[in-house]
Formats: sequence, C-alpha cells, structure tokens
Amino acid sequence: MEPFSTTFYDLQCKIYVLLLGMSSALKLTVPSHTIHGIEGQPLNLPVDYDFNITVTDIQIIWMFEKPQTTLKYLLISVNQTVIPDLEYKDKFTLRPPNASLLIKALHISDEGNYIVKINIHGNGTISKSEQIRVTSDVPVVKPTIYTEPSFGVAEYRGNITLKCTVGSGTRVAYQWMKNGKPIEASTNYSFSANKDTMSIVPVVKEAIGNYSCVASNPISAMESDKIMPTIYYGPYGLTVNSNKGQKVGEVFTLDNGEAVQLYCSADSNPANVYSWIRKADNSTHLIKYGRYLEVASEKVKQKTEEYMCSAYNNMTGKRDETRIVVIIMPRGLEQLAQKGKYLSPLAIITGISLFLIVSMFLLTFWKRFQFHKVIQQMQKSRPEADYRGAHTISGHENALDDFGIYEFVAFPDPAGISMVSSCSGSDVVQGQDFNGTVYEIIRHIPEQHQEHQE
Ligand SMILES: *[C@@H]1O[C@H](CO)[C@@H](O)[C@H](O)[C@H]1NC(C)=O
Ligand SMILES: *[C@@H]1O[C@H](CO)[C@@H](O)[C@H](O)[C@H]1NC(C)=O
Ligand SMILES: *[C@@H]1O[C@H](CO)[C@@H](O)[C@H](O)[C@H]1NC(C)=O
Ligand SMILES: *[C@@H]1O[C@H](CO)[C@@H](O)[C@H](O)[C@H]1NC(C)=O
Ligand SMILES: *[C@@H]1O[C@H](CO)[C@@H](O)[C@H](O)[C@H]1NC(C)=O
Ligand SMILES: *[C@@H]1O[C@H](CO)[C@@H](O)[C@H](O)[C@H]1NC(C)=O
Ligand SMILES: *[C@@H]1O[C@H](CO)[C@@H](O)[C@H](O)[C@H]1NC(C)=O
Ligand SMILES: *[C@@H]1O[C@H](CO)[C@@H](O)[C@H](O)[C@H]1NC(C)=O
Ligand SMILES: *[C@@H]1O[C@H](CO)[C@@H](O)[C@H](O)[C@H]1NC(C)=O
Ligand SMILES: *[C@@H]1O[C@H](CO)[C@@H](O)[C@H](O)[C@H]1NC(C)=O
Repeated sequence: MEPFSTTFYDLQCKIYVLLLGMSSALKLTVPSHTIHGIEGQPLNLPVDYDFNITVTDIQIIWMFEKPQTTLKYLLISVNQTVIPDLEYKDKFTLRPPNASLLIKALHISDEGNYIVKINIHGNGTISKSEQIRVTSDVPVVKPTIYTEPSFGVAEYRGNITLKCTVGSGTRVAYQWMKNGKPIEASTNYSFSANKDTMSIVPVVKEAIGNYSCVASNPISAMESDKIMPTIYYGPYGLTVNSNKGQKVGEVFTLDNGEAVQLYCSADSNPANVYSWIRKADNSTHLIKYGRYLEVASEKVKQKTEEYMCSAYNNMTGKRDETRIVVIIMPRGLEQLAQKGKYLSPLAIITGISLFLIVSMFLLTFWKRFQFHKVIQQMQKSRPEADYRGAHTISGHENALDDFGIYEFVAFPDPAGISMVSSCSGSDVVQGQDFNGTVYEIIRHIPEQHQEHQE
C-alpha cells in the first residue's frame, strides 16, 4: 500500500496522468462541496460514485486537511473491509461500498476539508477524488433588543441606539428590520461593524415603527420580538373642526340663534394639552382646557368673536396655535355664504351679482350723505407695516347694521399672553413661551372702498 506521507497534490498529479484517455469509466460526485454542520450533532458527508468496467478491488480512502496542517488519513476500505486510523476509530462510520462518511458527533475541531479518493482496480487502476468543506456551528437562540435610552426620546433632541444580543450562537450575523423590512445603512440609520448595534440619528417622527433584529448563522436564524421605541413629536397639523363635520377655516359663520361645537386636533405624542383662548379688546382670556369649545350665538356679545386654540406638547415643549373668528350672521345671510362655499359656481356668480347690484345701490345712497370721509381718516391713521393679512366678508341690504367689508389685521404682540386672566394658578400656559398675535377687525363701507381706488 502506498504510504500516506505523499501530499494530496502529488496524488492528484498522478491521478490526472492515470486518467488520461479513460476518465469516463469512473464517475465520482459530491452533492455539495460545503456542508454546515451543527455542533454535537452527527453529520453525513454524502458521496456518489459509479463505474462501468469490471473491477476486482474498490478502495475508498477518506482524508482530512485543515489549513496550515498536514493531511491526515482517517480510514480506508477495500471491498467490504474498513481499516480506520486508530486515532479516529470511534469518530467515523463508513459502510462500503457506500462511500458516504458519517461523522458521529461534530465538533468545532472537526472543521476543515474532507477528501475522498476512490480507486477501482480491474484492467488497470482508475482513481478519482473530491473535497468537501465542513463547518461546525452552534445554533443561535432568539435575540433580545436593548434600547438606549430605555425611555422616550423627543424628536430632533436625542438619538436612539438599539443593541441586538444573542445568548448563544457562533458566527452570528445581524440584520435589522423595520416593520418587517430590512433596514439599510442611510443618513438616519448607522450600524456598528458587526451590525449588532444600530443608531437612529436624528430621531424623527418617521422613525416610529416596529423594530426587530434577525440573528443568523449558516445553520439557523432567529428574529427578536418587535420593539417600538418611544418618540415624542408634535404638535403637527393643528386644525379646528366643527361638530357639523366641516373643517373650519379662519372664519366661521354662525347663524343667529345657533350653537356650534368646535374642536381642535393636532397630531402629537404624547397627547397635546389643548386650551381655548378668547381675544377681545387687546386682551386674551383663557376660556377652558380641553379640545372642545361650545359657541352659542346668544352668548357672543359682539358680532364677531375671536378665539384661539392652542395645542401644547409637554414632552417636546412645542406649541402650536390657530385662530378662529366666529361671525354671527342674521338668518338668511349665512345661507348665501354657505351656498357660495359649497354649491355650484352658478350660485357664486348669483351671489356676486347680487352683491354688485346692492353695492351700486348703496353707492348712490351714500354719495348723497358723504359718510365716507370719517372712515377714510380712520384708515390713514394706521401704519401700513402693521398689515399682515386681510379677509373680506360681504353682506346685503337686509342687514344694514352689519353690512360692510370686514378686514382682519394681524400684528405681533410682544407682550405675549401676560394678560391671561382666568388661568387659575395653572402652570401650563406660561407667559414666556406663549407669544400671541393681536388682531384688529375693521369694518369698511363698500362705497368708501371704491372711491379709494379711483
Ligand atoms: C461507461 O462507458 C462509456 C464508454 O464506454 C462512457 O461513455 C460512460 O460515461 C461510462 N459510464 C460510467 C457510469 O462510467
Ligand atoms: C475484493 O473482491 C473481489 C471479488 O469481489 C476479489 O476478487 C478481491 O480479491 C477482493 N479484494 C480484497 C483485497 O479482498
Ligand atoms: C450511503 O449511506 C448514506 C447514509 O450513511 C445514505 O443516506 C445513502 O443513501 C447511502 N447511499 C447509497 C448509494 O446507498
Ligand atoms: C485492458 O485494457 C486495454 C487498454 O487499456 C484493452 O486493450 C484491453 O482490452 C483490456 N482488457 C480487458 C479484459 O478489458
Ligand atoms: C447619541 O447620544 C449619546 C448620549 O445621549 C451621545 O453620547 C452620542 O454622541 C450621540 N450620538 C450621536 C451620533 O449623536
Ligand atoms: C431621515 O432623516 C431626515 C432628516 O434628517 C428626515 O427628513 C427623514 O424623514 C428621515 N427618514 C426616516 C425614514 O426616518
Ligand atoms: C407595530 O406592531 C403593532 C402590533 O403588532 C401594531 O399594532 C402597530 O400598528 C405596528 N406599528 C407600525 C408602525 O407598523
Ligand atoms: C404631559 O401631558 C400628559 C397628557 O397629555 C400628562 O399625562 C402628563 O402628566 C404630562 N406630563 C408632564 C410632565 O406635565
Ligand atoms: C389696543 O392696544 C393699542 C396699543 O397697544 C391701543 O392703542 C388701543 O387703544 C387698544 N385698544 C383697546 C380697545 O384697548
Ligand atoms: C416670544 O418672543 C420673544 C421675543 O419677542 C422671543 O425671545 C421668544 O423666544 C418667543 N417665544 C416663543 C415660544 O416663540
């Protein structure tokens, strides 16, 4: 028998020389050239071979090679007889003519390359060899995510670090998932070298989601429970709606004798603290806390009343506010306004035409009495720079008292809400972080407005 001190590569050279011209007589195949085994479990290294010449002897030789070590002989079989290397007597099983090798219990030290060589001897000798790489791994257990910080983080303020840990497992690779989809490194997400740690910087509302990590190695994969980091944000998108289901713009008209419930909403986490403020005569009054405000037309002292809804998020420290001007309209007038808003363009044209006719009528009416001079003086006395926005409402002749062009003029009030009076000892609305705006409502008579343009 040939001594095994010869290296594998020398053998291979000899085999190639030998096989020239008769390579098809013996076929040796291995289903996979790399097999990942489980630590402590049996592992079969499957091998198939076939030949179609008459042979007398069949030799199956298994060898083992680790990087930076010499080739080791494991066992050899001739026909049905197996001769193991005594060092590995109990470690391997071979049942000739089946050439598959069974490793009874795989250990990390068994990792390396397994070489099988088949020699068939008949009219000459034919040899073939194949190589199988074997790895041994410990399966991963279900990973756990640790969040830093464990409490919530306010938007744009801090960062969130998630760490994925597994109790056991070798060669663990980590993959982070958000709502079941893999996360790639980006401006918002960064990873440690082995990806077991993920940082979310900056923390924004969009980062809210269910995060999990998948720990895997060649033989196993486990996903952690999903966790949802607490991210404080908002208030965003402050709007005021009415109980009639319509979104309320800056101006809300209310029919005389009617009541309406306004409610304020804004997206935030945690829930906003809502408060309603009434503005009158340069002063602001906190009416109530909570998102609802009931406005009954009988209780409105003036024809117009200005309210503000404020939403405050006590975790982000951010506040948003929106203002509503409620105008009490005599019956009938409101219907015209409503039609203009919600019905066909024809209705709008009809309304405008009616307005123009009425205006013409009033023009001639007032030309006679010259009322406009007083109003003109009033307007000139106001500095132009104070104007930030203006809104127009029109009426008709049935309500001569209310008739006119209403203009809302806004300018900042540096004094803030220091005039909040009914705030009974509460610390939620504070003067320094509550900067308001003062609004003035001016009524113009249309006839005057037209003369101004001439
Ligand atoms: C049997 O021999 C023929 C040629 O004689 C060859 O083509 C074929 O591949 C061989 N089959 C096997 C299984 O070795
Ligand atoms: C192997 O078996 C064949 C017949 O099947 C026989 O001729 C040969 O001598 C045997 N070889 C050995 C080493 O026993
Ligand atoms: C060889 O043995 C393995 C198990 O040790 C078995 O899975 C395989 O089917 C056998 N091959 C043949 C050709 O009998
Ligand atoms: C043995 O092989 C040679 C060529 O390698 C061939 O000429 C001869 O016929 C073969 N003999 C038998 C019995 O197969
Ligand atoms: C994240 O926050 C920690 C402390 O909260 C800080 O030490 C770290 O530098 C921050 N990382 C980044 C990328 O901002
Ligand atoms: C990433 O951060 C930017 C701001 O830096 C933000 O606009 C964007 O929504 C963030 N995307 C995600 C998915 O968090
Ligand atoms: C996170 O998961 C919970 C429970 O499965 C689900 O109710 C919630 O909508 C999910 N959140 C996101 C942002 O997908
Ligand atoms: C913040 O507001 C929530 C309700 O929106 C309340 O439950 C919580 O106690 C408040 N926290 C502080 C510190 O004021
Ligand atoms: C409102 O304040 C301005 C200046 O702050 C003052 O000129 C005006 O008279 C005040 N109006 C009322 C009704 O108090
Ligand atoms: C309120 O206004 C003052 C100056 O007018 C400013 O210093 C302060 O930051 C403002 N506060 C808020 C909450 O906007």
